Amino acid sequence: MITNVGTILVQKLEGKDVALRGWVHRHRVSGNMVFVVMRDPSGIIQIAVKKDKVPEKDWKDANDAYVESSFTVTGRVKKDDRAPGGYEIEASGFSLISRGEPFPIAKDLSEEFLLDIRHLWVRSQKMTNIMKARHHMVNYLREFLDEKEGFYEIAPPIITRSGCEGGSTLFEMDYFGEKAYLTQSSQMYAEVFIFALGKVYVFAPSFRAEKSRTIRHLAEYWHLEPEMAFYDYHMNMELQEAMITHVAQSMVKEHPELLKACGRDPLDLEKVKGPFPRMEYKDAVEKVNELGGKMEWGQDFGADEEALITKEHHKPLFVNKFPKAIKAFYMKEDPQNPELVLNNDLLAPQGHGEIIGGSERIWHYDELIARMKEQNLDMKDYQWYLDLRRYGSVPHSGFGMGVERVVKWMLNLDHIRDAIPFPRTINRCYP
Ligand code: 4AD
Ligand code: MG
Repeated sequence: MITNVGTILVQKLEGKDVALRGWVHRHRVSGNMVFVVMRDPSGIIQIAVKKDKVPEKDWKDANDAYVESSFTVTGRVKKDDRAPGGYEIEASGFSLISRGEPFPIAKDLSEEFLLDIRHLWVRSQKMTNIMKARHHMVNYLREFLDEKEGFYEIAPPIITRSGCEGGSTLFEMDYFGEKAYLTQSSQMYAEVFIFALGKVYVFAPSFRAEKSRTIRHLAEYWHLEPEMAFYDYHMNMELQEAMITHVAQSMVKEHPELLKACGRDPLDLEKVKGPFPRMEYKDAVEKVNELGGKMEWGQDFGADEEALITKEHHKPLFVNKFPKAIKAFYMKEDPQNPELVLNNDLLAPQGHGEIIGGSERIWHYDELIARMKEQNLDMKDYQWYLDLRRYGSVPHSGFGMGVERVVKWMLNLDHIRDAIPFPRTINRCYP
């Protein structure tokens, strides 16, 4: 008897006696047979329990099982073309661990209901596949930064005194009688560490009090933020390109079946290889208008505009050199045009939109002070950030990537809420 095998191994064990434990995925009684599709973390397998092949107590357990009851089973692995996956276990024993109560999730439930019972819905094949794929993607991101590029991961604070991306989306909190905020971005702290460690990244949640309901905004999302000493904005884009290429190509090579199960054709992702096309903001505005959109110089892209300019692309598209007036205070001015900054957005194809925002940073003290005054920022909260420009400052760049945005794009999900187990949005903070 081979004990505690996962369902995934079963097909390699044809003819052998095995013992497994897991949960009931589907349950059907048919005369003197009970068919149980069993699920465990590795997959699903059909079990056939025949009345005259198991002890009486086990026959009762098999009959009594609900969807999601937990149980152990022993039996022989058999090839069976009618079973999902092509194999079946002919049970010699079936024993409930916990029968539990009738499972509240059946077919055709509303999206809202599934969000209310998310703590149970994460057991579904859909969510399981997405969570596995997300895990692999995050590992490839780390592998790229740690092993290929020699970055250090650093640990910034989540509770902060100063915003990084403008006041309107800050989550305010009471910090022992003083005002503080949940971080919008760890960038400013990442900048601290380039002076000690050169190339660093933060992988942590960021918080945005986004007041609109969209298919790509969360109030809490996982943010990957690399920051590099001595990188200019071209090198910054090259790094983003290599990182996204590494994740896409690794997923295609190592997990094509998982991609398919999530709804993404691996052949689409295979095309995601550097170099990615680059376009300046002004040309992107023109392109939007050419394609039937309506946009003026100085406006920011919305979801519709991003969908228009990426429509004809199979790869992500860099849009760079945005107007200074619509971008954050820390972005370095374009030496060729003081109205622009040396920044880039990276837009995912097929309407998925912005996945990365990055820039070269202002590294001179006077220039930063001037820009902060222009944007009416309260200097006293930023003294430590200004200090970085007073002692051995160097040119540097960095970017922020929204993990759920990338998961949504790479897995071709309809909505960002499925890219994270417990989405936080304007109308949901439960479960
Ligand atoms: O463009 P953003 O606001 O840039 C920054 O926060 C910089 N400080 C990053 C940096 O340079 N270190 O956000 C960066 C990325 C976006 O491109 C997007 O992928 C994601 O974070 N993002 C969100 N993801 C989900 N929900 C939201 N509400 C998001 N807001 C931004
Ligand atoms: Mg942005």
